[in-house]
Amino acid sequence: MSVSAGPVPDQTPSEAKRRKPGLVGWVVNRLGMDDLMEDQYNRVVPFHATNYVYCFGGIALVLFVILTATGIMLAVYYQSTPDTAYQSVLNISTHVQFGWWIRSIHRWSASAMVVLVFAHMLRVFFTGAYKKPRELNWLTGVALLLMTMGFGFTGYLLPWDQKAYWATKVGTDIAGSVPLIGHFLLVSLRGGDQISAATLGRFFTLHVLVLPAIIVILLLGHFFMIRRHGISGRL
Ligand code: HEM
Repeated sequence: MSVSAGPVPDQTPSEAKRRKPGLVGWVVNRLGMDDLMEDQYNRVVPFHATNYVYCFGGIALVLFVILTATGIMLAVYYQSTPDTAYQSVLNISTHVQFGWWIRSIHRWSASAMVVLVFAHMLRVFFTGAYKKPRELNWLTGVALLLMTMGFGFTGYLLPWDQKAYWATKVGTDIAGSVPLIGHFLLVSLRGGDQISAATLGRFFTLHVLVLPAIIVILLLGHFFMIRRHGISGRL
C-alpha cells in the first residue's frame, strides 16, 4: 500500500507548498513568519549589483563577525590592568595555543575593516546611492564609520606598550583641542588629566561592550533600510 505525501490535514495545499525544510524552516514555521521569509528568499540581485564593488559592505560585515569571534577568544586571556595588560598580550602571542594566530587575525581584520568600510562608502558615494530615499541610511553609515574608527582607536591602547601609550596620548590631545568642549572630552576619555589605569579601563569597556552594542544596533538599522529600499539602481 502506498502512503500519499500530501499536506498534513491542518494545512491548505498553499501553506504546505510554502513550508521550508530544515531547522530554519522549522523555526520560521513556528514563528508564523512564512510570508516575510518567502519575500526574502525570492529577492533577485539586479545584474548591475553583481559588480564586485557592491561586495565591499558585505565583506566589511564578514570582517566584523571575524573580529567579534577572535575578540571573544582574546578576551579570555587578556587582563585589562596596567600591571597585567602587556604581560597578558605577550602571553597570548607566545604561550596560548594558536594565540599568536588569533591575535594576528584580529589585528589584520581590524585594519582591513577600516579599508573596506571606506571602499564601501566610496562605492555608495560614486554610484549616488546616498540620494533620496537613502539619506538616513547614509547617516547610519557615517555613524558606522565612526564606530569602526572608535574600535581601532580604543583597541590600540589595550596592549599597553609604548606605541599604544603615545598613540592614545596624541589621539586624546587632539580631542582636547576641540573648542569649548575639548577639556571635557579629554578628561572623559582619559578618566583624568593623564593617561592612567582609568584610561585603560574606559577604553577596554568601550572596546568590548559599548561600541559592539552600538554597532550591532546601527547594523540592524542599516540592513533593515537596505531591505526596505532595495539596492539602488544603475547610474
Ligand atoms: C560597519 C560598516 C558597514 C557595513 C558592514 C555595511 C554594510 C552594507 C551592505 C552589506 C550593504 C549592501 C550593498 C553593498 O554592500 O554595497 C550596504 C549598503 C549601503 N550602505 Fe553600508 N555598511 C557599512 C558602512 C557604511 C558607510 C560608512 C556608509 C556611508 C557613509 C554606508 C552607506 C550605505 C548605503 C547608503 C547603502 C545603500 C546602498 C545602495 O542601495 O546601493 N554604509 N551597506
